[in-house]
Amino acid sequence: MIRMTTAASIAALTLAAGAAQAQQPWMNTKLSPDERAALLEKEMTLDERIGLVHGPMSMPIFGIKKPDGAIGSAGYIPGIPRLGVPALEESDASLGVTNPLGVRPGDGATALASGLSLAATFNTKLAYDGGAVVGREARAKGFNVQLAGGVNLARDPRNGRNFEYLGEDPWLAGNLVAAQINGIQAQGIVSTIKHFSLNGQETSRHFANSIIDEAAHRESDLLAFQIAIEKSQPGSVMCAYNLVNGDYSCGAPHLLNDVLKGDWGYKGWVMSDWGAVHATDYIVKGLDQQSGEQLDAKIWFGEPLKAAVEKGEIPAARLSDATRRILRSMFAAGLFDKPVTPGGAIDYDGNAQVAHAAAAEGIVLLKNREGLLPLAKSAKTIAVIGGHADAGVLSGGGSSQVVPPGGAKRVVPLGGEGMMGAFRSQYFNGSSPLAAIRKAAPDAKVTFDDGRYVASAVAAAKAADVVVVMGNQWMGEGEDAFDLSLPNGQDELIAAVVAANPNAIVVLQTGGPVSMPWLDQAGAVVEAWYGGAKGGEAIADVLFGAVNPSGRLPVTFPASLSQYPREALPGRGVPEKTRFDVNYTEGSDVGYRRFAATGDKPLFPFGYGLSYTSFAYSNLKVEGGQSVTVSFDVANTGKVEGKDAPQVYLTGAAGKPLQRLIGFGKVSLKPGESRRVTLTADPRLLASFDATGRRWVVTGGDYQVAVGASATDLALKGGAKVKARTLKP
Ligand code: BGC
Repeated sequence: MIRMTTAASIAALTLAAGAAQAQQPWMNTKLSPDERAALLEKEMTLDERIGLVHGPMSMPIFGIKKPDGAIGSAGYIPGIPRLGVPALEESDASLGVTNPLGVRPGDGATALASGLSLAATFNTKLAYDGGAVVGREARAKGFNVQLAGGVNLARDPRNGRNFEYLGEDPWLAGNLVAAQINGIQAQGIVSTIKHFSLNGQETSRHFANSIIDEAAHRESDLLAFQIAIEKSQPGSVMCAYNLVNGDYSCGAPHLLNDVLKGDWGYKGWVMSDWGAVHATDYIVKGLDQQSGEQLDAKIWFGEPLKAAVEKGEIPAARLSDATRRILRSMFAAGLFDKPVTPGGAIDYDGNAQVAHAAAAEGIVLLKNREGLLPLAKSAKTIAVIGGHADAGVLSGGGSSQVVPPGGAKRVVPLGGEGMMGAFRSQYFNGSSPLAAIRKAAPDAKVTFDDGRYVASAVAAAKAADVVVVMGNQWMGEGEDAFDLSLPNGQDELIAAVVAANPNAIVVLQTGGPVSMPWLDQAGAVVEAWYGGAKGGEAIADVLFGAVNPSGRLPVTFPASLSQYPREALPGRGVPEKTRFDVNYTEGSDVGYRRFAATGDKPLFPFGYGLSYTSFAYSNLKVEGGQSVTVSFDVANTGKVEGKDAPQVYLTGAAGKPLQRLIGFGKVSLKPGESRRVTLTADPRLLASFDATGRRWVVTGGDYQVAVGASATDLALKGGAKVKARTLKP
């Protein structure tokens, strides 16, 4: 037996590594991801390049079986063993690692609260922590691409996917999604920001042509993407199903080549949404990879692309660039150096704690008559009504649906035809608000009425000291809300309950804004969104005061749909498979910005949310120059500790009245404590986009700002002179 000394064995290993590196120079970690990608791509055959730019879904659907070698989830791009290129194992989404159609039997994951809940925290740290949970679980399960980072602005309160996104403001949404992506990518995997761009509604999403003018687009949805991409360098960008100004977004040269890769210098790859590719030449229009290809009419980026490259119809250099972009992001994320393998340990309890903290901080207290909340632990009888509160909290449907470890507690299928029919079910996860309330009030008699019969619920409400009545709005991918009511007659149920007992607290679990016809009579209203793994506990935390609510609305709750430029939902009633326009005439004045322009009064404004304490703002100082720097004191003037999310708005720019969120903070203060907050605006928030000159223009002059507790509650006002300047696009 030959025995090597330690020194000799290290030398041998180093030699072996050196030899391997001589054969595979792209494995030299001292080189940049660009250099490594270029070295590797040079070695690849045409077939290998083609192999990397398209791939199938990795779930069994429509009689298609899961591809060999795939772990099973959303998508799969086979690797190239000869060159040591790992396969891309892709899973959805921002709210946790999904298991579509149970392709991995029994494999659950930690569900985070919905995107709107996260946005309501106004807390980038929670976004990072949640992203880290998702990234860790993805990695442990063997996924190296997480299709996370949905950041389409909430332009329509009915949009079925608002719950996946981060609200209506580009600064808030862009910063939060960047933090989320950073949390994911810190685990050594790729994250995919999506859906680029203006996928503002789900109704006939493959036929909706989003119309917007260039400047408005740059100042709104594109700005959210731009901020996020700068701050988090996501490995991939997913283009959307819809058209933008006449081009399908996955085949839109202006969006992909001019803006994303040109003006912004984006170095990663553009992957299509699943079934969003309509031609081979999308590759010259800026698309780098066809995903979920069985959903398209053809595997365009397979044989047709190969033939087109061979014939010289599509430049080989473009295919090389697409290949290099994919490899570059794989190197940058660490996919070669620290390969992802399935079977890692997952701390579900620890991850649930992270989800719990974020869910509790995302809850928004909308109304609280005479301190009804927090509930006195001494309430003798509490009636909990409706919303499947005995089974868990609700979650949104579609590709982002997460199933908890151990499975859902209750699944209520909604059925329906077509591709999305299989995904239309309400999942309740076992984090039961009823159980959490019972735990928080061990001495109370807590009754439950499922809310099916109004008379029975009213009787339960009358028999109790306090009532907690749930209002659920299930939303899902592929469809929009019909209107802003709570479905299945729940508004009638709630109206009857709040009329029966003045101490009735309405707890909403909604995908977005809803109308509240019973608001005047309700004792208190709590917006709990979709609360994720510990949503039931988070609701009880706020109801009983273990957590002082600090969520703020990241989306305007309108008084009526007539306050929007598109009262009738575009595409509704249009024959199937017919293209139609969605005119985004509000331009960059999304949500509260448009309310500021029209003077309409919303039901609840953007940024709004109550606390069990009170806060005061003072000592405003505004400095001008290249941008505006705003500082002020926030004080807790109440009796309990709490968190505040002070907001800074631009209200006038060189003589032009407008409203834009230019900064926000999140501060935790003890009673009597105060803290100075200082924020400098990103100059693009002061600017307008000059589409002809392709630049941002800050007009010199007086700029007005306001500090407040919501978009309509502006406590401090000031201003400063800002210098004229232009900025690169
Ligand atoms: C969704 C994407 C998702 C993809 C893969 C599509 O239906 O729009 O957000 O990543 O499916 O599941």
